[in-house]
Amino acid sequence: MENWWKSAVVYQVYIRSFADGNGDGIGDLPGLREKLPYLSSLGIDAIWITPWYTSPMVDAGYDVADFRDIDPSYGTLHDAEALIRDAHALGIKVIIDIVPNHTSSEHRWFHAALRDEANAKQRYIFRDGQGTDGSSPPNDWTSAFGGPAWTRLPNGEWYLHMFAPEQPDLNWENPEVRAEFEDILAFWFARGIDGFRIDVAHGLVKHPELPDAGPRPEDWRTQPHPARDQDGVHDIYRTWRKVAETFTPERIFVAEAVVPTNERLARYLRPDELHTAFQFDFTRAPWRANSLRDVIDDAVSQAATVGAPATWVLSSHDIPRPVTRYARSQPEFDVQPEWDRARWSAEEPDLELGKRRARAAALLQLALPGTAYIYQGDELGLDEVESLPPEVRNDPTWAQSGYTDVGRDGCRVPLPWSGTSPPFGFSPEASHADPWLPQPEHWESRTVLDQQNDNASFVWLYRSAIHLRTALFPAETELEWLGFAGQVLAFQRGDSQCWVNLGDEPVDLPAGWDVVLESSRTHGDSLPSDTAVWMTRSPF
Ligand code: BGC
Repeated sequence: MENWWKSAVVYQVYIRSFADGNGDGIGDLPGLREKLPYLSSLGIDAIWITPWYTSPMVDAGYDVADFRDIDPSYGTLHDAEALIRDAHALGIKVIIDIVPNHTSSEHRWFHAALRDEANAKQRYIFRDGQGTDGSSPPNDWTSAFGGPAWTRLPNGEWYLHMFAPEQPDLNWENPEVRAEFEDILAFWFARGIDGFRIDVAHGLVKHPELPDAGPRPEDWRTQPHPARDQDGVHDIYRTWRKVAETFTPERIFVAEAVVPTNERLARYLRPDELHTAFQFDFTRAPWRANSLRDVIDDAVSQAATVGAPATWVLSSHDIPRPVTRYARSQPEFDVQPEWDRARWSAEEPDLELGKRRARAAALLQLALPGTAYIYQGDELGLDEVESLPPEVRNDPTWAQSGYTDVGRDGCRVPLPWSGTSPPFGFSPEASHADPWLPQPEHWESRTVLDQQNDNASFVWLYRSAIHLRTALFPAETELEWLGFAGQVLAFQRGDSQCWVNLGDEPVDLPAGWDVVLESSRTHGDSLPSDTAVWMTRSPF
Protein backbone atom coordinates (compact mmCIF):
# COMPACT_ATOMS: atom_id res chain seq x y z
CA MET A 1 0.00 0.00 0.00
CA GLU A 2 1.42 3.37 -1.03
CA ASN A 3 1.75 5.90 1.76
CA TRP A 4 1.11 3.31 4.49
CA TRP A 5 3.47 5.28 6.71
CA LYS A 6 1.12 8.29 6.74
CA SER A 7 -1.40 6.65 9.04
CA ALA A 8 0.41 3.57 10.32
CA VAL A 9 0.49 2.14 13.80
CA VAL A 10 4.16 1.38 14.37
CA TYR A 11 5.20 -0.86 17.25
CA GLN A 12 8.67 -0.22 18.65
CA VAL A 13 10.57 -3.41 19.38
CA TYR A 14 13.39 -2.85 21.85
CA ILE A 15 14.99 -6.07 20.78
CA ARG A 16 17.10 -6.66 23.88
CA SER A 17 13.99 -6.79 26.03
CA PHE A 18 11.32 -8.17 23.73
CA ALA A 19 11.69 -11.98 23.79
CA ASP A 20 14.65 -14.27 24.36
CA GLY A 21 14.72 -17.24 21.98
CA ASN A 22 18.07 -18.83 22.88
CA GLY A 23 17.86 -18.69 26.66
CA ASP A 24 20.66 -16.26 27.55
CA GLY A 25 18.41 -13.68 29.21
CA ILE A 26 18.75 -11.25 26.29
CA GLY A 27 16.04 -10.68 23.70
CA ASP A 28 16.95 -11.76 20.17
CA LEU A 29 15.75 -12.30 16.62
CA PRO A 30 14.54 -15.89 17.10
CA GLY A 31 12.50 -14.64 20.10
CA LEU A 32 11.04 -11.83 18.03
CA ARG A 33 10.21 -14.14 15.14
CA GLU A 34 8.36 -16.44 17.49
CA LYS A 35 6.23 -13.61 18.81
CA LEU A 36 5.30 -12.10 15.45
CA PRO A 37 1.81 -13.69 15.58
CA TYR A 38 1.20 -11.75 18.81
CA LEU A 39 2.19 -8.50 17.09
CA SER A 40 0.03 -9.39 14.15
CA SER A 41 -2.94 -10.02 16.47
CA LEU A 42 -2.57 -6.47 17.77
CA GLY A 43 -3.24 -5.22 14.26
CA ILE A 44 -0.13 -3.08 13.91
CA ASP A 45 1.14 -2.04 10.48
CA ALA A 46 4.88 -1.98 11.11
CA ILE A 47 7.59 -2.70 13.62
CA TRP A 48 10.60 -0.49 14.29
CA ILE A 49 13.45 -2.56 15.67
CA THR A 50 16.12 -0.76 17.73
CA PRO A 51 19.73 -1.37 16.57
CA TRP A 52 20.51 -4.99 15.94
CA TYR A 53 24.05 -4.50 14.63
CA THR A 54 27.29 -5.88 16.02
CA SER A 55 28.01 -3.80 19.10
CA PRO A 56 29.92 -3.84 22.39
CA MET A 57 26.57 -2.68 23.89
CA VAL A 58 27.91 0.27 25.81
CA ASP A 59 24.75 2.14 24.82
CA ALA A 60 22.52 -0.90 24.24
CA GLY A 61 23.41 -1.19 20.56
CA TYR A 62 23.51 2.52 19.68
CA ASP A 63 27.28 2.02 19.61
CA VAL A 64 27.66 0.16 16.33
CA ALA A 65 30.85 -1.74 15.47
CA ASP A 66 29.64 -3.21 12.16
CA PHE A 67 26.64 -1.76 10.33
CA ARG A 68 26.39 -4.73 7.98
CA ASP A 69 26.08 -7.55 10.49
CA ILE A 70 23.91 -8.63 13.41
CA ASP A 71 25.18 -8.76 16.97
CA PRO A 72 25.77 -12.42 17.95
CA SER A 73 23.63 -11.98 21.06
CA TYR A 74 20.69 -11.16 18.74
CA GLY A 75 21.34 -13.79 16.07
CA THR A 76 22.69 -13.79 12.53
CA LEU A 77 22.14 -12.05 9.24
CA HIS A 78 20.22 -15.13 8.23
CA ASP A 79 17.88 -14.62 11.23
CA ALA A 80 17.36 -11.00 10.19
CA GLU A 81 16.44 -12.03 6.66
CA ALA A 82 14.06 -14.68 7.99
CA LEU A 83 12.47 -12.14 10.32
CA ILE A 84 11.89 -9.70 7.46
CA ARG A 85 10.33 -12.49 5.42
CA ASP A 86 8.07 -13.67 8.24
CA ALA A 87 6.96 -10.16 9.10
CA HIS A 88 6.12 -9.42 5.48
CA ALA A 89 4.15 -12.65 5.24
CA LEU A 90 1.98 -11.32 8.10
CA GLY A 91 1.61 -7.94 6.40
CA ILE A 92 3.93 -6.21 8.87
CA LYS A 93 6.49 -3.71 7.51
CA VAL A 94 9.96 -3.65 9.03
CA ILE A 95 11.76 -0.43 9.97
CA ILE A 96 15.26 -0.64 11.43
CA ASP A 97 17.41 1.89 13.21
CA ILE A 98 20.38 3.53 11.51
CA VAL A 99 22.90 5.29 13.75
CA PRO A 100 24.82 7.73 11.53
CA ASN A 101 26.00 10.31 14.06
CA HIS A 102 28.63 8.07 15.60
CA THR A 103 30.16 4.62 15.55
CA SER A 104 31.35 2.44 18.37
CA SER A 105 34.93 3.02 19.45
CA GLU A 106 35.30 -0.65 18.45
CA HIS A 107 34.43 0.09 14.83
CA ARG A 108 37.30 -0.72 12.45
CA TRP A 109 37.39 2.93 11.40
CA PHE A 110 38.04 4.14 14.94
CA HIS A 111 40.69 1.47 15.44
CA ALA A 112 42.36 2.72 12.27
CA ALA A 113 42.16 6.29 13.60
CA LEU A 114 43.80 5.28 16.87
CA ARG A 115 46.58 3.60 14.89
CA ASP A 116 46.84 6.88 12.96
CA GLU A 117 46.46 5.19 9.59
CA ALA A 118 46.44 7.52 6.61
CA ASN A 119 43.19 9.57 6.38
CA ALA A 120 41.57 7.56 9.19
CA LYS A 121 41.26 10.43 11.68
CA GLN A 122 39.40 12.50 9.12
CA ARG A 123 36.43 10.20 9.47
CA TYR A 124 35.98 11.45 13.03
CA ILE A 125 36.32 14.81 14.76
CA PHE A 126 39.79 15.08 16.28
CA ARG A 127 41.12 18.42 17.57
CA ASP A 128 43.92 19.82 19.69
CA GLY A 129 42.99 20.96 23.17
CA GLN A 130 43.02 24.51 24.46
CA GLY A 131 45.53 26.10 26.84
CA THR A 132 49.31 26.11 26.58
CA ASP A 133 49.54 22.36 27.15
CA GLY A 134 46.29 21.55 25.31
CA SER A 135 44.82 20.05 28.45
CA SER A 136 41.45 21.79 28.14
CA PRO A 137 38.88 20.39 25.69
CA PRO A 138 38.59 22.11 22.30
CA ASN A 139 35.25 23.67 23.30
CA ASP A 140 32.65 23.58 26.06
CA TRP A 141 30.23 21.04 24.55
CA THR A 142 28.73 18.50 26.91
CA SER A 143 27.64 14.93 26.22
CA ALA A 144 23.92 14.10 26.22
CA PHE A 145 24.68 11.57 28.94
CA GLY A 146 26.53 14.09 31.13
CA GLY A 147 30.15 15.27 31.37
CA PRO A 148 32.31 16.73 28.59
CA ALA A 149 31.75 15.77 24.96
CA TRP A 150 35.49 15.36 24.41
CA THR A 151 37.92 12.66 25.45
CA ARG A 152 41.69 13.03 25.36
CA LEU A 153 43.89 10.32 23.95
CA PRO A 154 47.28 9.45 25.47
CA ASN A 155 48.94 11.33 22.57
CA GLY A 156 47.24 14.53 23.74
CA GLU A 157 44.61 14.83 20.97
CA TRP A 158 40.91 15.11 21.74
CA TYR A 159 37.99 13.48 19.92
CA LEU A 160 34.34 14.48 20.00
CA HIS A 161 31.52 12.28 21.30
CA MET A 162 28.11 13.86 21.84
CA PHE A 163 27.09 10.69 23.72
CA ALA A 164 29.37 8.15 25.48
CA PRO A 165 33.18 8.25 24.99
CA GLU A 166 32.71 4.85 23.31
CA GLN A 167 30.55 6.58 20.63
CA PRO A 168 32.93 8.87 18.66
CA ASP A 169 31.10 11.31 16.37
CA LEU A 170 31.65 10.86 12.66
CA ASN A 171 32.84 13.70 10.44
CA TRP A 172 30.10 14.18 7.88
CA GLU A 173 32.19 16.72 5.97
CA ASN A 174 34.20 13.73 4.76
CA PRO A 175 32.80 12.30 1.47
CA GLU A 176 33.97 8.83 2.50
CA VAL A 177 31.58 8.89 5.46
CA ARG A 178 28.71 9.93 3.21
CA ALA A 179 29.45 7.22 0.66
CA GLU A 180 29.73 4.57 3.36
CA PHE A 181 26.27 5.30 4.74
CA GLU A 182 24.66 5.42 1.32
CA ASP A 183 26.05 1.95 0.82
CA ILE A 184 24.79 0.75 4.22
CA LEU A 185 21.29 2.01 3.42
CA ALA A 186 21.32 0.13 0.11
CA PHE A 187 22.67 -3.00 1.85
CA TRP A 188 19.59 -3.19 4.08
CA PHE A 189 17.07 -1.96 1.55
CA ALA A 190 18.26 -4.78 -0.68
CA ARG A 191 17.47 -7.20 2.14
CA GLY A 192 13.89 -6.03 2.11
CA ILE A 193 13.57 -3.60 5.00
CA ASP A 194 10.87 -1.00 4.46
CA GLY A 195 12.51 1.93 6.14
CA PHE A 196 14.96 3.41 8.60
CA ARG A 197 14.47 5.29 11.82
CA ILE A 198 17.35 7.76 11.80
CA ASP A 199 19.01 8.07 15.19
CA VAL A 200 20.05 11.62 16.17
CA ALA A 201 19.05 12.85 12.71
CA HIS A 202 19.64 16.45 13.79
CA GLY A 203 23.25 15.90 14.82
CA LEU A 204 25.30 14.80 11.85
CA VAL A 205 26.55 18.21 10.73
CA LYS A 206 28.32 20.46 13.19
CA HIS A 207 29.05 24.19 12.91
CA PRO A 208 32.38 24.25 11.00
CA GLU A 209 34.15 26.32 13.67
CA LEU A 210 32.95 24.17 16.57
CA PRO A 211 32.23 27.30 18.63
CA ASP A 212 31.47 27.20 22.36
CA ALA A 213 27.79 26.58 23.14
CA GLY A 214 27.65 28.43 26.45
CA PRO A 215 26.13 27.09 29.68
CA ARG A 216 23.67 24.23 29.27
CA PRO A 217 20.10 25.34 30.02
CA GLU A 218 17.58 22.99 31.61
CA ASP A 219 15.71 22.60 28.32
CA TRP A 220 18.97 22.10 26.40
CA ARG A 221 17.64 19.43 24.05
CA THR A 222 15.31 21.87 22.36
CA GLN A 223 17.61 24.88 22.37
CA PRO A 224 19.77 25.86 19.37
CA HIS A 225 23.28 24.37 19.57
CA PRO A 226 26.23 24.38 17.13
CA ALA A 227 26.20 20.56 17.10
CA ARG A 228 22.51 20.27 16.24
CA ASP A 229 20.08 21.13 13.47
CA GLN A 230 22.66 22.80 11.22
CA ASP A 231 21.35 23.64 7.76
CA GLY A 232 23.97 21.48 6.05
CA VAL A 233 22.36 18.29 7.35
CA HIS A 234 19.59 18.55 4.76
CA ASP A 235 21.95 17.81 1.85
CA ILE A 236 22.59 14.41 3.40
CA TYR A 237 18.91 13.56 3.52
CA ARG A 238 18.34 14.71 -0.04
CA THR A 239 20.92 12.14 -1.10
CA TRP A 240 19.42 9.46 1.15
CA ARG A 241 16.02 10.06 -0.38
CA LYS A 242 17.51 9.36 -3.80
CA VAL A 243 18.95 6.08 -2.51
CA ALA A 244 15.53 5.07 -1.13
CA GLU A 245 13.84 5.92 -4.40
CA THR A 246 15.91 3.41 -6.33
CA PHE A 247 13.97 0.65 -4.52
CA THR A 248 10.40 -0.58 -4.88
CA PRO A 249 8.05 -0.86 -3.15
CA GLU A 250 8.42 2.45 -1.40
CA ARG A 251 11.15 2.69 1.25
CA ILE A 252 10.83 5.37 3.92
CA PHE A 253 12.72 7.32 6.59
CA VAL A 254 11.51 8.46 9.98
CA ALA A 255 13.73 10.99 11.71
CA GLU A 256 14.56 11.25 15.36
CA ALA A 257 15.31 14.94 15.00
CA VAL A 258 15.20 16.80 18.28
CA VAL A 259 14.97 20.43 17.21
CA PRO A 260 13.67 23.63 18.82
CA THR A 261 10.31 23.84 17.04
CA ASN A 262 7.97 21.90 14.79
CA GLU A 263 8.70 24.54 12.16
CA ARG A 264 12.39 23.48 12.21
CA LEU A 265 11.29 19.86 12.16
CA ALA A 266 9.22 20.42 9.02
CA ARG A 267 12.44 21.27 7.15
CA TYR A 268 13.50 17.62 7.45
CA LEU A 269 10.27 16.62 5.75
CA ARG A 270 10.45 18.66 2.57
CA PRO A 271 9.38 16.59 -0.43
CA ASP A 272 12.93 15.67 -1.45
CA GLU A 273 14.07 14.80 2.10
CA LEU A 274 12.70 12.48 4.77
CA HIS A 275 9.18 11.09 4.86
CA THR A 276 8.26 11.57 8.47
CA ALA A 277 9.71 12.48 11.88
CA PHE A 278 8.83 11.94 15.49
CA GLN A 279 7.05 14.88 17.11
CA PHE A 280 8.02 14.57 20.74
CA ASP A 281 5.86 17.29 22.29
CA PHE A 282 3.01 14.83 22.79
CA THR A 283 5.21 12.80 25.07
CA ARG A 284 6.52 15.88 26.84
CA ALA A 285 3.09 17.33 27.54
CA PRO A 286 1.65 16.92 31.02
CA TRP A 287 -1.78 15.37 31.52
CA ARG A 288 -3.59 18.68 30.99
CA ALA A 289 -6.21 19.38 28.36
CA ASN A 290 -4.92 22.78 27.30
CA SER A 291 -1.30 21.58 26.95
CA LEU A 292 -2.28 18.56 24.92
CA ARG A 293 -4.59 20.56 22.73
CA ASP A 294 -1.84 23.10 21.91
CA VAL A 295 0.59 20.29 21.18
CA ILE A 296 -1.89 18.52 18.90
CA ASP A 297 -2.73 21.70 16.97
CA ASP A 298 0.91 22.59 16.49
CA ALA A 299 1.88 19.08 15.39
CA VAL A 300 -0.96 18.81 12.88
CA SER A 301 -0.51 22.26 11.38
CA GLN A 302 3.27 22.09 11.07
CA ALA A 303 3.21 18.64 9.49
CA ALA A 304 0.58 19.86 7.03
CA THR A 305 2.87 22.65 5.78
CA VAL A 306 5.08 20.01 4.17
CA GLY A 307 2.42 17.40 3.46
CA ALA A 308 3.83 15.02 6.07
CA PRO A 309 1.76 13.10 8.59
CA ALA A 310 1.67 14.21 12.21
CA THR A 311 3.29 11.62 14.46
CA TRP A 312 2.22 10.67 17.97
CA VAL A 313 4.75 9.22 20.35
CA LEU A 314 3.63 8.35 23.86
CA SER A 315 6.92 6.85 24.93
CA SER A 316 10.07 5.05 23.81
CA HIS A 317 13.15 3.34 25.18
CA ASP A 318 14.46 6.79 26.18
CA ILE A 319 11.44 8.10 28.07
CA PRO A 320 9.82 7.01 31.36
CA ARG A 321 6.70 4.86 30.89
CA PRO A 322 3.40 6.78 30.59
CA VAL A 323 1.81 4.85 33.47
CA THR A 324 4.44 6.28 35.79
CA ARG A 325 4.60 9.73 34.17
CA TYR A 326 0.90 10.19 34.73
CA ALA A 327 0.97 8.69 38.22
CA ARG A 328 2.34 11.78 39.90
CA SER A 329 1.33 15.43 40.07
CA GLN A 330 1.52 16.98 36.64
CA PRO A 331 3.84 19.91 35.96
CA GLU A 332 2.40 23.35 35.25
CA PHE A 333 4.31 24.05 32.06
CA ASP A 334 2.94 23.13 28.65
CA VAL A 335 5.75 21.13 27.22
CA GLN A 336 8.49 20.01 29.44
CA PRO A 337 12.02 19.86 28.18
CA GLU A 338 12.63 16.52 29.78
CA TRP A 339 10.70 14.08 31.90
CA ASP A 340 12.97 14.70 34.80
CA ARG A 341 13.39 11.35 36.55
CA ALA A 342 15.16 12.75 39.60
CA ARG A 343 12.42 15.28 40.34
CA TRP A 344 10.01 12.50 41.06
CA SER A 345 11.82 10.56 43.67
CA ALA A 346 10.16 12.50 46.48
CA GLU A 347 6.61 11.75 45.36
CA GLU A 348 4.99 8.29 45.66
CA PRO A 349 3.41 7.30 42.35
CA ASP A 350 -0.28 6.43 42.27
CA LEU A 351 -0.01 3.66 39.68
CA GLU A 352 -3.74 3.00 39.51
CA LEU A 353 -4.24 6.64 38.53
CA GLY A 354 -1.31 6.39 36.12
CA LYS A 355 -2.82 3.33 34.45
CA ARG A 356 -6.19 4.96 34.12
CA ARG A 357 -4.67 8.00 32.45
CA ALA A 358 -2.35 5.94 30.25
CA ARG A 359 -5.38 4.02 28.94
CA ALA A 360 -7.14 7.28 28.14
CA ALA A 361 -3.95 8.62 26.53
CA ALA A 362 -3.78 5.53 24.30
CA LEU A 363 -7.29 6.16 22.97
CA LEU A 364 -6.43 9.80 22.40
CA GLN A 365 -3.21 8.89 20.60
CA LEU A 366 -4.85 6.31 18.37
CA ALA A 367 -7.72 8.61 17.38
CA LEU A 368 -5.47 11.40 16.12
CA PRO A 369 -4.70 11.84 12.41
CA GLY A 370 -1.25 10.59 11.39
CA THR A 371 1.11 7.87 12.55
CA ALA A 372 1.08 6.41 16.05
CA TYR A 373 4.14 4.85 17.68
CA ILE A 374 3.62 2.32 20.45
CA TYR A 375 6.58 1.36 22.59
CA GLN A 376 6.65 -2.32 23.54
CA GLY A 377 5.07 -2.95 26.91
CA ASP A 378 2.89 0.16 26.86
CA GLU A 379 0.19 -2.10 25.46
CA LEU A 380 0.59 -4.14 28.67
CA GLY A 381 0.33 -1.08 30.91
CA LEU A 382 3.84 -1.60 32.27
CA ASP A 383 5.12 0.96 34.72
CA GLU A 384 8.63 2.39 34.88
CA VAL A 385 10.76 0.09 37.06
CA GLU A 386 12.12 2.66 39.48
CA SER A 387 13.36 0.14 42.00
CA LEU A 388 16.30 -1.23 40.00
CA PRO A 389 19.33 -1.61 42.26
CA PRO A 390 22.30 0.55 41.21
CA GLU A 391 24.50 -2.46 40.44
CA VAL A 392 22.22 -3.67 37.63
CA ARG A 393 21.90 -0.30 35.94
CA ASN A 394 23.22 -0.45 32.42
CA ASP A 395 22.50 2.92 30.83
CA PRO A 396 25.72 4.97 30.46
CA THR A 397 23.74 7.99 31.69
CA TRP A 398 23.98 6.64 35.26
CA ALA A 399 27.79 6.74 35.45
CA GLN A 400 28.31 9.70 33.12
CA SER A 401 25.95 11.90 35.13
CA GLY A 402 28.07 11.17 38.21
CA TYR A 403 25.31 8.86 39.50
CA THR A 404 22.75 11.66 39.66
CA ASP A 405 20.47 10.54 36.81
CA VAL A 406 19.32 6.92 37.05
CA GLY A 407 18.97 6.81 33.29
CA ARG A 408 16.66 4.88 31.02
CA ASP A 409 16.87 1.30 32.29
CA GLY A 410 13.50 1.56 34.05
CA CYS A 411 11.60 1.49 30.74
CA ARG A 412 13.84 -1.19 29.22
CA VAL A 413 13.08 -4.11 31.53
CA PRO A 414 12.30 -7.34 29.62
CA LEU A 415 8.65 -7.94 28.79
CA PRO A 416 6.49 -10.30 30.86
CA TRP A 417 4.86 -12.88 28.58
CA SER A 418 3.38 -15.52 30.85
CA GLY A 419 3.61 -17.20 34.22
CA THR A 420 3.52 -15.98 37.79
CA SER A 421 7.17 -15.20 38.53
CA PRO A 422 10.22 -13.81 36.72
CA PRO A 423 11.31 -14.27 33.98
CA PHE A 424 7.59 -14.38 33.09
CA GLY A 425 8.18 -16.40 29.93
CA PHE A 426 10.73 -13.90 28.59
CA SER A 427 13.26 -16.74 28.18
CA PRO A 428 12.44 -20.36 27.33
CA GLU A 429 11.36 -22.26 30.43
CA ALA A 430 14.25 -24.72 30.43
CA SER A 431 16.94 -22.04 30.25
CA HIS A 432 16.82 -20.75 33.85
CA ALA A 433 18.42 -17.56 32.58
CA ASP A 434 17.94 -14.33 34.49
CA PRO A 435 16.65 -11.50 32.30
CA TRP A 436 19.39 -8.92 31.68
CA LEU A 437 17.45 -6.48 33.87
CA PRO A 438 15.35 -7.86 36.75
CA GLN A 439 11.58 -7.75 36.38
CA PRO A 440 9.41 -6.69 39.33
CA GLU A 441 7.22 -9.34 40.97
CA HIS A 442 4.08 -7.24 40.49
CA TRP A 443 4.26 -7.79 36.73
CA GLU A 444 2.58 -11.08 37.49
CA SER A 445 -0.69 -9.35 36.64
CA ARG A 446 0.70 -7.71 33.52
CA THR A 447 1.74 -10.64 31.35
CA VAL A 448 0.53 -10.98 27.78
CA LEU A 449 -1.05 -14.34 28.54
CA ASP A 450 -2.86 -13.03 31.57
CA GLN A 451 -4.28 -10.06 29.67
CA GLN A 452 -5.06 -11.51 26.29
CA ASN A 453 -8.52 -12.80 27.10
CA ASP A 454 -9.49 -10.21 29.69
CA ASN A 455 -11.67 -7.50 28.23
CA ALA A 456 -10.70 -5.07 30.99
CA SER A 457 -6.99 -5.40 30.19
CA PHE A 458 -4.58 -3.02 28.50
CA VAL A 459 -3.87 -5.47 25.68
CA TRP A 460 -7.57 -5.81 24.97
CA LEU A 461 -7.95 -2.03 24.84
CA TYR A 462 -4.97 -1.54 22.51
CA ARG A 463 -5.99 -4.40 20.25
CA SER A 464 -9.58 -3.15 20.01
CA ALA A 465 -8.46 0.41 19.36
CA ILE A 466 -5.96 -0.55 16.65
CA HIS A 467 -8.54 -2.73 14.93
CA LEU A 468 -11.28 -0.05 15.08
CA ARG A 469 -9.05 2.93 14.33
CA THR A 470 -9.24 2.93 10.56
CA ALA A 471 -12.96 2.20 10.41
CA LEU A 472 -13.83 4.95 12.86
CA PHE A 473 -11.19 7.50 11.98
CA PRO A 474 -10.27 6.97 8.32
CA ALA A 475 -6.77 8.14 7.43
CA GLU A 476 -7.85 11.09 5.31
CA THR A 477 -10.28 12.63 7.82
CA GLU A 478 -9.27 15.86 9.51
CA LEU A 479 -9.60 16.70 13.15
CA GLU A 480 -12.29 19.20 14.18
CA TRP A 481 -12.40 20.33 17.79
CA LEU A 482 -15.84 20.30 19.32
CA GLY A 483 -15.57 23.67 20.99
CA PHE A 484 -15.06 22.55 24.54
CA ALA A 485 -13.08 24.30 27.19
CA GLY A 486 -11.81 23.27 30.59
CA GLN A 487 -10.36 19.84 31.13
CA VAL A 488 -12.09 18.11 28.22
CA LEU A 489 -10.59 17.28 24.85
CA ALA A 490 -13.28 16.44 22.32
CA PHE A 491 -12.92 16.19 18.59
CA GLN A 492 -14.58 14.68 15.59
CA ARG A 493 -12.95 12.98 12.61
CA GLY A 494 -15.31 11.90 9.88
CA ASP A 495 -18.36 10.38 11.53
CA SER A 496 -16.73 9.54 14.85
CA GLN A 497 -15.80 11.44 17.96
CA CYS A 498 -13.14 11.04 20.63
CA TRP A 499 -13.72 12.55 24.06
CA VAL A 500 -11.16 12.66 26.85
CA ASN A 501 -11.93 13.97 30.32
CA LEU A 502 -8.72 15.10 32.00
CA GLY A 503 -10.50 16.87 34.85
CA ASP A 504 -11.63 15.78 38.31
CA GLU A 505 -15.37 15.93 37.63
CA PRO A 506 -17.48 13.77 35.29
CA VAL A 507 -18.81 15.50 32.17
CA ASP A 508 -21.96 14.83 30.15
CA LEU A 509 -21.63 13.05 26.83
CA PRO A 510 -23.77 14.26 23.92
CA ALA A 511 -27.05 12.53 23.01
CA GLY A 512 -27.29 10.63 19.72
CA TRP A 513 -23.84 9.06 19.97
CA ASP A 514 -22.93 5.52 20.99
CA VAL A 515 -19.80 4.68 22.91
CA VAL A 516 -17.88 2.11 20.86
CA LEU A 517 -14.75 1.94 22.99
CA GLU A 518 -13.98 3.26 26.46
CA SER A 519 -10.71 3.43 28.37
CA SER A 520 -12.48 2.93 31.73
CA ARG A 521 -16.10 2.20 32.57
CA THR A 522 -18.44 5.01 31.63
CA HIS A 523 -21.77 5.43 33.37
CA GLY A 524 -24.69 6.18 31.13
CA ASP A 525 -24.20 9.50 29.47
CA SER A 526 -21.44 10.64 31.73
CA LEU A 527 -17.70 10.53 31.11
CA PRO A 528 -15.76 10.00 34.35
CA SER A 529 -12.51 11.72 35.08
CA ASP A 530 -9.32 10.45 33.37
CA THR A 531 -11.35 8.51 30.83
CA ALA A 532 -11.54 8.55 27.04
CA VAL A 533 -14.24 7.23 24.73
CA TRP A 534 -14.65 6.70 21.02
CA MET A 535 -18.18 7.33 19.83
CA THR A 536 -20.09 6.98 16.64
CA ARG A 537 -23.55 8.16 15.64
CA SER A 538 -26.20 5.81 16.90
CA PRO A 539 -26.94 3.23 15.79
CA PHE A 540 -23.37 2.02 14.96
C1 BGC B 1 18.61 6.91 21.02
C2 BGC B 1 19.21 6.66 22.35
C3 BGC B 1 20.73 6.64 22.19
C4 BGC B 1 21.23 7.91 21.49
C5 BGC B 1 22.64 7.78 21.01
C6 BGC B 1 19.10 8.31 20.76
O1 BGC B 1 18.40 9.31 20.57
O2 BGC B 1 17.21 6.83 20.98
O3 BGC B 1 18.75 5.48 22.94
O4 BGC B 1 21.32 6.57 23.45
O5 BGC B 1 20.45 8.24 20.39
O6 BGC B 1 22.72 6.96 19.90
